[in-house]
Amino acid sequence: MSDSKDSKKLSEERYSKFAQGYVESQTHAKGYDLDQFIKISDPQPDWQMLDIATGGGHTALTFAPHVKNIIASDLTENMLLAAEKNIKEKGIENITFRQADAENLPFDDEQFDLVTCRIAAHHFPNAQKFVQETSRVLKPGGRFLLQDHVLSEDKSVADFAENFETLRDPSHNHAFSLSAWTHMLVHAGFEIYHQEEIIKRHPFIDWVKRQGHGQEVISELEQLLDNASETIKAWLSPLEWGTPDASFVNHHILIGSDKKS
Ligand SMILES: C[S@@+](CC[C@H](N)C(=O)[O-])C[C@H]1O[C@@H](n2cnc3c(N)ncnc32)[C@H](O)[C@@H]1O
Repeated sequence: MSDSKDSKKLSEERYSKFAQGYVESQTHAKGYDLDQFIKISDPQPDWQMLDIATGGGHTALTFAPHVKNIIASDLTENMLLAAEKNIKEKGIENITFRQADAENLPFDDEQFDLVTCRIAAHHFPNAQKFVQETSRVLKPGGRFLLQDHVLSEDKSVADFAENFETLRDPSHNHAFSLSAWTHMLVHAGFEIYHQEEIIKRHPFIDWVKRQGHGQEVISELEQLLDNASETIKAWLSPLEWGTPDASFVNHHILIGSDKKS
């Protein structure tokens, strides 16, 4: 998506509409990746943390018992309101909420010990700017945990996956391959200490409906994958395709990195 302002407006509009769905989504509330975030970051009780694009607040909620304070930030005000309601109802008191664009963070230089961003960077029009901003707000030696869609290094598979995702979620901007993320992180002064690919299987119909679509988009996506090459099918690994129990996988990357001191 080329125009960054329009793209952000679209993200905000869509996530405003589906905020409660993301608070309640079990795919977002739990997962191996959240367990790994804790395991690989070794969070400390005196840490100040920032969660970028907090969505339903699940990453912030997971870290709340392990760090001192967390700012849960997001571009979408309605999303923050829904996340805040859910978190306050649980009696959690060390999370505060702040509207913030990932590419222009309203925080001081070297304010945080830990920054997290999970399943969101593919919405940002300028991912390099987001990575630079993350580096700016982290203390020297501070830790950055990123989890997001990852593309195949094979361009035809990558292009298909981007198109498949954008049809379902027009606020999708770009996902990147591991080599592209590595380049951006190193350029912004990070050293990668952990990387792993995570394959997530999604019930196809729920996945499409969570973005407010009906049968038309379901059929369009079904056909697209029916007509795809064997290499693309191997990447998306559809099961029971064309039935109500259809599922497929998407590939994520989890990266742990430290800002060089
Ligand atoms: C899938 S949700 C995030 C899920 C969440 N991090 C979790 O762990 O469950 C994507 C979020 O990205 C937010 N977002 C999109 N563009 C953004 C931007 N430029 N800056 C900050 N947040 C943004 C949306 O408002 C939405 O809440």
